[in-house]
Amino acid sequence: MRVLVIFGSPHSDGPSAQLLQALLDSLSDNAVISHFDCYERAPLPCTDCRACFVGNRCTLNDIDDFYQQLENADALIFVSPVYNLSFPAPMKALIDRMQCYWAARFKRKVRPAIAKPKTAVLITACGNDSLEGGQFLELQLKPVLTLLNARLMQTVHYFGSDKNRPLEPFLKKASDAAGRL
Ligand SMILES: Cc1cc2nc3c(=O)[nH]c(=O)nc-3n(C[C@H](O)[C@H](O)[C@H](O)COP(=O)(O)O)c2cc1C
Repeated sequence: MRVLVIFGSPHSDGPSAQLLQALLDSLSDNAVISHFDCYERAPLPCTDCRACFVGNRCTLNDIDDFYQQLENADALIFVSPVYNLSFPAPMKALIDRMQCYWAARFKRKVRPAIAKPKTAVLITACGNDSLEGGQFLELQLKPVLTLLNARLMQTVHYFGSDKNRPLEPFLKKASDAAGRL
């Protein structure tokens, strides 16, 4: 099983990273895991140039390897803190770069835009003592997942990091999510 992690936090040891680790620790031994670190790679933003409306290419070539991994993946793990009720800018840029699959599906009539079906898990972390932030991210991601031929199997929305809400119950949920991929 090819698993692609799309990691949106600048912190390597924050709640997002810890929740991801709990999931990865519970993945089966046959999982082959690739990581895309949004802060490390800082994808260029989509410029709506519309080249993808007519051809199977993005005119920006900074994440060609990512597209390849995305298309070949069996499972996707999206991990993100909540920034202003949205994804942090580098992860938002990556998601916007998936516009080429919208163009494939609706402009070039490629159905499905990505042949290989996928399962997906979304992990979020936010400071406020409210589920709302994670739910906003889930809402934003769902239409994109449809384009990616991916089915959201499980969400883990950790909230309350500003007041150090204990992570343990959420770690357990993240660990259990491995079984849904
Ligand atoms: C620029 C910025 C914007 C943020 N916006 C929100 C927000 O809208 N809602 C919220 O609950 N937390 C917000 N936070 C807090 C983070 O979501 C929170 O600290 C989270 O636990 C960070 O997780 P991480 O350390 O795993 O990256 C924001 C933090 C930053 C730096």
